[in-house]
Amino acid sequence: MSPADIVRREEFELSFMVKALRTALGAEVIGLDVSQPFDAGTLEVIQQAFFDHHLLVFRDQNLSDEEQVAFSRQFGALEAFPEADKTKSAIEIYNVANVSPEGKHFDINDHRAIYQKVNARFHTDSSYRSIPSLASIMYGIEVLPDGTGGGETEFSNMFKAYDALPTSMKARLKPLYMVHYYEFGRRLYPELPPVPVKERSMVPPVTHPVVRVHPDRDNRRSLFITANAGNEIGGMTLEEGQALHRELVEHVAKVEFCHRHRWRVGDLVMWDNRCLLHRAMAYDMEKHRRVLRRTTVAGTGPIVGPFSHPTK
Ligand SMILES: [Fe+2]
Repeated sequence: MSPADIVRREEFELSFMVKALRTALGAEVIGLDVSQPFDAGTLEVIQQAFFDHHLLVFRDQNLSDEEQVAFSRQFGALEAFPEADKTKSAIEIYNVANVSPEGKHFDINDHRAIYQKVNARFHTDSSYRSIPSLASIMYGIEVLPDGTGGGETEFSNMFKAYDALPTSMKARLKPLYMVHYYEFGRRLYPELPPVPVKERSMVPPVTHPVVRVHPDRDNRRSLFITANAGNEIGGMTLEEGQALHRELVEHVAKVEFCHRHRWRVGDLVMWDNRCLLHRAMAYDMEKHRRVLRRTTVAGTGPIVGPFSHPTK
């Protein structure tokens, strides 16, 4: 290492810090403005922190749509969304909001409001794709006032949830595949309009292993279930699949695996969809405004199950 490198490293270490949260996952990155592109050293540290902690919180940011897209692209190609969402300002931006772009609350019977109930169930973003996403990145624009209950995003650590399973359950899950499909979440709420044929044809049903390995964590195993999957598990009847799915959903919701993020304006939260589930906690949607802006880093390949890495 050259003297110049040492000076640079010392400056770099002083410029921000990564502080682990005292919960089942996550870290806060303190003192880093993410509106500017990272230099190679910063990007390396942030990527390693992301692999180590699975979720990073950058507080007090001030980001335009374009800056969030540029930040996100540092971690890979971005997904475009199949939804015909009229609130999007760019194809890579998905607005999670209970108000219209003009600032009016959605009526509680509006399908955009009802659709947010789908997100109240533990899920991973884009599990309905043949190559599910790597990471989601969400920015807080309008959030619930301090002291108001609800509106948090809760995350569950699938490494910990998997590790805590009895050996017999791990053996049972090892060969299983589950069907994921885009429409399933909507079907839970009959009041929602059907998915247009064009959108549906872009995301046909896919199967993924119930236990997956993580390519950036030495192929460590984790659970890959989502409450929005169809409960259809290969080799099981629908009833058996539903019963097993219910049991696993109850398991991952245990408090020892979870962390709840209470949103502040200017929070940028980035999480690893390859080992975390998340859900939106309920809040009074008629009284409060909640506007978050999401970008999604695409996955790099199909999900790999434990048979490809039998020694782990
Ligand atoms: Fe989500």
